Amino acid sequence: MASPHSSSTAFGPSAEALRMRPNAIRALAALIGRPELISFAGGVPSPATFPRAQIAEIASRLILDEGDRVLQYASTRGNARLAGAVVDRMRRAGVAWASREGTILTSGSQQGLDLVARVLVDPGDVVFVELPSYIGGLAALWAAGAELVGFGLGSDGPDLGALEARVGETLRAGKRPRAIHTIPTFQNPSGITAGGEARANLLELARRHDLVIIEDDPYSEVYFGEEGKPPPPIAALAGARERVVYLGSFSKVLCPGLRAAWVAGDPDLCARLELAKEAADLCSSTLDHAIVAEMVDGGMVDGRLPAIREFYGERCRAMLEALERDAPEGSTWTRPTGGLFIWVTLPERVDAGARLHAAVEAGVAFVPGAPFFVDGGGSNTLRLAFSKEDPRRIAEGMATLLKIFAE
Ligand SMILES: Cc1ncc(COP(=O)(O)O)c(C=O)c1O
Repeated sequence: MASPHSSSTAFGPSAEALRMRPNAIRALAALIGRPELISFAGGVPSPATFPRAQIAEIASRLILDEGDRVLQYASTRGNARLAGAVVDRMRRAGVAWASREGTILTSGSQQGLDLVARVLVDPGDVVFVELPSYIGGLAALWAAGAELVGFGLGSDGPDLGALEARVGETLRAGKRPRAIHTIPTFQNPSGITAGGEARANLLELARRHDLVIIEDDPYSEVYFGEEGKPPPPIAALAGARERVVYLGSFSKVLCPGLRAAWVAGDPDLCARLELAKEAADLCSSTLDHAIVAEMVDGGMVDGRLPAIREFYGERCRAMLEALERDAPEGSTWTRPTGGLFIWVTLPERVDAGARLHAAVEAGVAFVPGAPFFVDGGGSNTLRLAFSKEDPRRIAEGMATLLKIFAE
């Protein structure tokens, strides 16, 4: 039998390398990343929200005054000041059990997802993921050898009947159901938020089947107006040392170039995550985390939240108005109250991916929905990010795009 190492060159891939899958959106980058396009494609925060001058001032001061520390290696757990601020943030969000021992800082939530997948999942374990879901999360779980099984999302969050059925099928097939990956708030890619009851019911299902919940939550502070404020995280409903692993990030409320995020959960799990992180990168960027610590502690992140919420709220409204005006007959879309994304479902016969070239020719980029589905579905769906363009360009681009879908 061929070993995973057999190859015609010296660089034959390992079994893990063979499990890694290319990111379908990054693969489209050459097409949808052209700078001249009106882009609803990039799932990234707007550079207009980055506090450049503040970051430059703090970075310069830290380097000149504290260069011995901030240009040096740091502990794997990360900056103690930032970890303390994260624990305060978690408690403020209702997670009373948040603790320093149960927190590990990471180089972005993406690293957190990778570490959690490595530490929790054995090859062949089943992890339940949302249909659609965040591609980076799927990639981390696939790399760890998880078998990914999808469950649908309704307007109020997970379809628990479907999830229950998938768990049953998994058990009958003799496989190990291990975890649920969920993005309950302003989900990427759909913009959907699970209600309070849906969160409680998901936790109850996880308890019944002894599943870990991986709560991936980078968007919850980006809500539009008080009425858009999401329910507390699932982690707030769970007990200390229970089954929720929570991932938070500063990428969407500060900037993703400073790679600052965290995982919060059972202290024993965090000790294992620390070992995995040590093997991955020894420590996150000391400088990045020192800058973020200074900004969070100095109130510069919280102080900017109202403006960030207003900024994205206005863009979201502009996109929703365009959809109300011009969406093709028979299509539906989500009405997010936070985050960066709207999800559109076109009539079943329309293949969104097949219209991408025409859209780009006409000057507009979007992301087809199919790559966000692990079950091969979603061909008539698309993700629209309202983060990049201003309301005027949103109106212009949406008029063009919706005309293409109406044809
Ligand atoms: C749901 C979700 N989780 C995690 C991430 C990764 O964020 P970061 O690594 O910048 O913290 C993203 C980024 O878009 C995301 O949408």
